[in-house]
Amino acid sequence: MNQTVLITGASSGLGADFIPHFISDGYHVILTARSYEQMQQLTQYYNPESYTIIIQDLQIPHAAAQLYEKVKQRGLTIDILINNAGFGLLGDFHTLDLQQQLAMMQVNMTSLVELTYLCLGDMENKQAGKILNVASVAAYLPGPKMAIYYATKAFVLSFSQALCEEYANTPIQISILAPGATKTNFAKVAHVEKTKMFARPMKSSVVVSIAYHQFMKGKHIIIPGTINKLIIGATKILPRHLLAKVAKTITRI
Ligand SMILES: NC(=O)c1ccc[n+]([C@@H]2O[C@H](COP(=O)([O-])OP(=O)(O)OC[C@H]3O[C@@H](n4cnc5c(N)ncnc54)[C@H](OP(=O)(O)O)[C@@H]3O)[C@@H](O)[C@H]2O)c1
Repeated sequence: MNQTVLITGASSGLGADFIPHFISDGYHVILTARSYEQMQQLTQYYNPESYTIIIQDLQIPHAAAQLYEKVKQRGLTIDILINNAGFGLLGDFHTLDLQQQLAMMQVNMTSLVELTYLCLGDMENKQAGKILNVASVAAYLPGPKMAIYYATKAFVLSFSQALCEEYANTPIQISILAPGATKTNFAKVAHVEKTKMFARPMKSSVVVSIAYHQFMKGKHIIIPGTINKLIIGATKILPRHLLAKVAKTITRI
């Protein structure tokens, strides 16, 4: 039986770009997102036995438990989890819709935590498994005008680094991906397409190719691109109030 990987947010962008890597390495890929047709299109040329599509909205409470149940109903067990689904929103905190921001927290943090918890149960039983949590360069600094988004990614980074230590010297691998601006649907959804932040986005396929190879080699913190490495390096030196000012500047058009 092939090993199984679950990719959340597999209908576009980074999640979609992970699919060919796993399929060509012989994994059974479970794609999940809300957009069924996009996932169907992405898999149309693959052997139907190499993938499973599961529709799941991750912004509703206990969505991850529902998703996990659907995986089990299909007789599958997750060997690798790619916690990638997420979105951002540009705007001052108090001008953005509260429900949308709470939904963002649900997708970016709560569903990610719930899915991690459920999959770790199986991984501990088997004493094997890998989890890649997608954070962001945004995880390393406060983000005025995207306050909740940056904070959700800071949560993902802190949570995942803690787990990484809990599972050190075990056969279970916890890794973090911290991409910078990348050309996907993210910028359109977040309304940041025309901002300085997105002046020179990386190609999604390049980000994922780096991420895939480093993750499969066991790397814990994956930062694709030299500029992103430099930015993260700078966040460790500069005071956070200054970082907040810089982050605010790059949300300008
Ligand atoms: N692109 C960047 O510049 C960048 C930089 C750093 C980090 N990231 C992170 O990378 C991850 C992937 O984003 P991306 O850049 O590939 O953007 P994307 O192309 O917009 O993909 C986002 C994915 O998340 C899924 N998703 C969003 N809301 C969902 C919900 N309520 N329920 C289930 N799935 C949902 C979307 O699927 P449906 O809409 O079909 O549900 C889509 O498959 C995100 O966590 C993002 O924060 C992106």
